[in-house]
Amino acid sequence: MSKVIVSLDLESKEKIDRIVEMLDFIEYFKVGPIPYLVYGNELIEKLKKRGKKIFLDLKFFDIPNTVKKSVKCACLKGVDMLTLHIMGGEEMVKSAIEGKNEVGAETKILGITVLTSLKEKDIDFATSSIREMVFKLAERGYNWGIDGIVCSGEELPFLRKKFPSPFLMVVPGIRMEERKDDQKRVITPSMAVKKGADFIVVGRPVYESENPVKSVERIIKEVKIGEESMGGD
Ligand code: C5P
Repeated sequence: MSKVIVSLDLESKEKIDRIVEMLDFIEYFKVGPIPYLVYGNELIEKLKKRGKKIFLDLKFFDIPNTVKKSVKCACLKGVDMLTLHIMGGEEMVKSAIEGKNEVGAETKILGITVLTSLKEKDIDFATSSIREMVFKLAERGYNWGIDGIVCSGEELPFLRKKFPSPFLMVVPGIRMEERKDDQKRVITPSMAVKKGADFIVVGRPVYESENPVKSVERIIKEVKIGEESMGGD
């Protein structure tokens, strides 16, 4: 099931290994700062050996030279997708693309727009709404040449209309039911797919559940429902 990316935000190697083992039928795993710091590059190597695809979510946001070299290093590790903050600006984003091209990698560069844990009140210093910010950032990323964006389910429908495939839309903040945590702009798996998500990213609803396999199976079932109803309202 290539649409579902399971995030490995676990704080021990054993726990990460257990989830990867359990979910061997999943193609894509997300390696963010938590598993990367716990495991190091060994995790990327191990996942690749298992034939898995890797979404390296280190959300680069730094001066252009640093981001360019970071992207180069990540591409050389053979990751399939990586993230950077579009807010880093044109020079940073274009340097990242240059870095990827210099090593001739196929890695997809995805831009972070506005984190799904943020609501208007969290960024009351901003002069435009979250929706406007997401849209402006996505447009800039698209024009500067990135391969896709990470966005919330809330903005997904209008972004999909404006930026058709193959521009990738990766959607975190996936929730099956009402759950109290830091994610505020959430969507169900079926709605995300129906509204045009190429990938959904799920973490806690899977690895914190009593039965991660069952939880992923339920998500996959929902994704299929979403695919079947695509194009409808
Ligand atoms: O546990 P949960 O399902 O909320 O995990 C979502 C994952 O997606 C986390 O690893 C988080 O870092 C990531 N993410 C996000 N919002 C973004 C980009 C990535 O939640 N805008």
